[in-house]
Amino acid sequence: MDVRQGDVHALPLEDHSVDRARIDRVLHLVADPTAALAELRRVLRPTGRAVLAQPDWETLAVDPGSVATNLAFNRFVCDRIVPNPVIGRQLARIAADVGLTVTSIEADVQLLHDFTTADELLGLTRNAHRAVEAGRLTRRAADTWLADLATGPFLAAFTLFRVTVSAA
Ligand SMILES: C[S@@+](CC[C@H](N)C(=O)[O-])C[C@H]1O[C@@H](n2cnc3c(N)ncnc32)[C@H](O)[C@@H]1O
Repeated sequence: MDVRQGDVHALPLEDHSVDRARIDRVLHLVADPTAALAELRRVLRPTGRAVLAQPDWETLAVDPGSVATNLAFNRFVCDRIVPNPVIGRQLARIAADVGLTVTSIEADVQLLHDFTTADELLGLTRNAHRAVEAGRLTRRAADTWLADLATGPFLAAFTLFRVTVSAA
């Protein structure tokens, strides 16, 4: 197997050299998702196909705890933490814009039932503390919300978009 590391905006691959590709939870972090998908288009063979998967951070719903704090947390994360928080819902449109053919669009709700796992994956504690430091949540609201979430039963849900594309 040939493993190469590179920036998704400038893949170390020849034009039209790739049969299958997967971009899974990367595009929310990158500087220019449109350029990254154009780069995917460049490296795919005419028969090439790819699957793209991205969550939508605006849709994060957690329970128990204050809904208002949940919404304020989401707003802060989307404004200040995740560079492209709603890239999931934008994937198909941007893929078509760069010349890829969209062959399917799916949206699933991902569920997490364990606070510790959700906290690791979603940064609930870390980002709530950042929101306090940024003046976007009061210390009291953040501490109460996190304490409520840590008192089970817990549930977190968010939408995950999956788009398949072909280069043809
Ligand atoms: C949430 S992880 C994705 C995990 C992985 N795709 C998987 O399926 O488990 C995000 C990954 O995106 C990578 N990443 C962020 N910016 C990137 C860029 N400009 N080019 C390539 N990779 C990038 C990070 O290094 C990190 O490994």
